[in-house]
Amino acid sequence: MDKIEKLIQLRAKSLEGGGAARLEDQHKKGKLTARERIHFLLDEGSFQEIGAFVMHRSSDFGMEKQKVLGDGVVTGYGTIHGRLVYVFSQDFTVFGGSLSETFAEKIVKIMDMAMKNGAPLIGLNDSGGARIQEGVVSLGGYADIFYRNVRASGVIPQISAILGPCAGGAVYSPAITDFIMMVENTSYMFVTGPNVVKTVTHEEVSSEELGGASTHATKSGVTHFSCANEIECIENIKKLLSYVPQNCEETAPNLDYYPSEDESRAELNAIIPQNPNQPYDMREVIEGTIDKGSFLEVHKDYAENIVVGFARIAGRSIGVVANQPAYLAGVLDNNSSMKGARFVRFCDAFNIPLLVFEDVPGFLPGTDQEWNGIIKNGAKLLYAFSEATVPRITVITRKAYGGAYDVMNSKHIGCDLNFAWPSAEIAVMGAKGAAEIIFRKEILSADNKEAKLQEKVDEYTEMFANPYKAAERGFIDEVILPSETRTKVIAGFKMLENKVDNMPRKKHGNIPL
Ligand code: HXC
Repeated sequence: MDKIEKLIQLRAKSLEGGGAARLEDQHKKGKLTARERIHFLLDEGSFQEIGAFVMHRSSDFGMEKQKVLGDGVVTGYGTIHGRLVYVFSQDFTVFGGSLSETFAEKIVKIMDMAMKNGAPLIGLNDSGGARIQEGVVSLGGYADIFYRNVRASGVIPQISAILGPCAGGAVYSPAITDFIMMVENTSYMFVTGPNVVKTVTHEEVSSEELGGASTHATKSGVTHFSCANEIECIENIKKLLSYVPQNCEETAPNLDYYPSEDESRAELNAIIPQNPNQPYDMREVIEGTIDKGSFLEVHKDYAENIVVGFARIAGRSIGVVANQPAYLAGVLDNNSSMKGARFVRFCDAFNIPLLVFEDVPGFLPGTDQEWNGIIKNGAKLLYAFSEATVPRITVITRKAYGGAYDVMNSKHIGCDLNFAWPSAEIAVMGAKGAAEIIFRKEILSADNKEAKLQEKVDEYTEMFANPYKAAERGFIDEVILPSETRTKVIAGFKMLENKVDNMPRKKHGNIPL
């Protein structure tokens, strides 16, 4: 056969994956094929494949008769909005997307390229796990990938989409990456599946319930995004990448910003309810401050007492961390502390400035919290903010009580600019609790105990439930009108754009895990 013709035929063959019937099966399951996913992810025509002719080397169980070009994973590079990315896409139509020695080598090859060339890595996962016919060789392949995931952590952004099965030790590569996206009803992740669970714990549970998108988006927090379908998932990956730089040496791309005539936000002046115990939605404060419609919320349905996500302010990419008074009064607990800490660390690793909105009544009391480690988990958030060297601004909208005041990006732990609204209450605790402790004897000996308590609560409120005591000390840089928040934050980040701050030289810190 003509040499040119041979190459053309081989190329065509490599596109077939596991064959037409299995590709059709993918569609029947509501899934796209490995190549379709790449097609929708990357800029039109930008994909350059690497390793299309790789085949496995196994000869056990008659495997030498079953060789497929590419061996079940499509790897290469391309662009998203003109920016370089590396991608691997597991092909479930070839041995169930299972990972062989050569399959792993293909992934490792592009991971190494992504690291050397400083560009994000995107993994599209859809696999039955270790290729059973290959045994330990496959386990070695997984470990080679895990090792590189860890070395790449904090150097290049790593995103994992789970678009089918992802079980056993295979979950640990996505788990180490920065963001996981799952698709409702077609993807699942678990360390041991429903059958093993039934044998060991006698629990009856479906795959979806055990490790589907909604489980991991709400209960475990393993996934950062739960998407209605694969197209939404792919669009989310592209959107997420628009907020992050190519690697840890760069900053995220800025969008053009043309200030409008009036950047004040009058609606924010009316957002805090008269009653300090009444909730309001912190997302309205976020939306009222950032560039319109720019908020990409991360971990939306998990630990909802803290809101985190990416946004733009005057075209610049920032990370937002905000207590949410509309959920559990915005209290800090185990899950919200970990959620916040992980997001802060991502932003710091990739030079994304942090904007914090604070309305926190403190840490959640109780045996559940204590026994599940609120001490070490709260410490994670404290640690994450303290080690962050990116520009950091805090806006205290209402409560900043107790240890939570310190933890939520206070000046004392390195916040660059701390603003407070006139409604801010910066104190050791709420006025009622404080009055009950420090005036206990006086209240108990009073004829009208309730009236006395109220009098003392009013006294404490007058004295401490305001931003001025903290401003007097310089803990607050400026008390601002809520309507000024956007302009103050824009000016603040502009002022901080050349900030240089470094942690002391060390091998690495020891965050309380
Ligand atoms: C080889 C596999 C495979 C695997 C699936 N296939 N998983 N081949 N190794 N791990 C093949 C099937 O034989 C089948 O081939 C084709 O892929 C599609 O599989 P089906 O079972 O028909 O698909 P479906 O009904 O959708 O079920 C998908 C599945 C199931 C739930 C993933 O295939 C399954 O349970 N597979 C085994 C999963 C597993 O135990 N993996 C090892 C886990 S241990 P044909 O030719 O019929 O189309 C592990 C450790 C990793 O992964 C540790 C890392 C540290």
